[in-house]
Amino acid sequence: MTILVSGGAGFIGGNFVLDWLDHFDEAVINLDKLTYAGNLETLKRLNGNNRHVFVHGDIGDRDLINNLLAMHKPRAVINFAAESHVDRSIHGPGEFIQTNVVGTFNLLESVRGYWDGLPGGEKQAFRFLHVSTDEVYGTLSRDDAPFNELNRYEPNSPYSASKAASDHLVRAWHHTYGLPVLTTNCSNNYGPYHFPEKLIPLVILNALAGKSLPIYGDGQQIRDWLYVRDHCSAIRRVLQSGKVGETYNVGGWNEKPNLDVVHTICSILDELRPKVSGGRYKDQITFVKDRPGHDRRYAIDARKLERELGWKPEETFETGIRKTVEWYLANQDWVRNVTSGAYREWVGRQYEVQL
Ligand SMILES: NC(=O)c1ccc[n+]([C@@H]2O[C@H](COP(=O)([O-])OP(=O)(O)OC[C@H]3O[C@@H](n4cnc5c(N)ncnc54)[C@H](O)[C@@H]3O)[C@@H](O)[C@H]2O)c1
Repeated sequence: MTILVSGGAGFIGGNFVLDWLDHFDEAVINLDKLTYAGNLETLKRLNGNNRHVFVHGDIGDRDLINNLLAMHKPRAVINFAAESHVDRSIHGPGEFIQTNVVGTFNLLESVRGYWDGLPGGEKQAFRFLHVSTDEVYGTLSRDDAPFNELNRYEPNSPYSASKAASDHLVRAWHHTYGLPVLTTNCSNNYGPYHFPEKLIPLVILNALAGKSLPIYGDGQQIRDWLYVRDHCSAIRRVLQSGKVGETYNVGGWNEKPNLDVVHTICSILDELRPKVSGGRYKDQITFVKDRPGHDRRYAIDARKLERELGWKPEETFETGIRKTVEWYLANQDWVRNVTSGAYREWVGRQYEVQL
């Protein structure tokens, strides 16, 4: 049996593919466009593993997807592929509409054609799992209850609006065509292989480089942090046991203001890699102008996933963030490659497009 994963060279998709192949013998077809966020260096330890087939391509390329589906006959498609960085969506929303909305539409259409043609048992067992975000629900004030699956969609950024649109398409393809879909809406992830433009890796790397640690506004924006491998286990659980047509919120009950997150990272670094010049890493913190339309608080009520499918995260924020800092300290090569763009040359040398 085989699954097809899109966006499997990105942060969460890459962790998912590694995790999947650690757990199962089932092969993974990994389709990724390799935007700036896609990094095959993350999948380096799968070189020579014939259960991993990497394909360089776009979820919006129907001919390619149709060929892949016909050739590999996956029992499930898991869609991670997206433009995912809120700041980039503010500066250039076009790509977000193209991949997150138009791309998801094209992927759904290809998958629908494939699924329609499957024989009875396989058709019944097939699943399309769409990986989405808590940001579709908008923002919370301090006293609001965390988002549950019944919250209204109120996306505030071009990124979250494009993800909300994709969630609606997925829902409609189930209600109109009967496509067996599942949707997960997850809170902020952190962990290994996170592209260093996002808060946690940026702070670790800037701290080590002696650079300033930029904090938006007052640093009191609250996010609900989940260790990426816990997100992967939640997706596996939903794929295995989720009820077709349902959505599941995924979160770790770890609400933290950004400033607290940065202080925690600084203290771990003070302990693991004390500054040679003396002083504390937190002295590098600098407050910068806030992002326009910055959502104040996200928090996820993950009780449905726990109650109905028995899923719980393994890591607390304290254990997960320590693992993450340790990982970045131990994997400076990965970081150097990503930041220098050398991984792109490596990709050119290592991989041929496979179909
Ligand atoms: N990072 C988070 O905290 C978080 C939280 C909840 C949900 N999500 C969702 O999870 C998914 C993965 O997020 P991430 O943080 O790993 O993102 P990422 O930006 O690190 O990775 C996205 C991957 O998709 C690929 N991609 C982009 N456009 C593509 C296209 N048109 N066709 C094929 N591949 C394409 C990129 O090359 C990259 O490898 C996204 O859908 C995102 O909305 C992310």
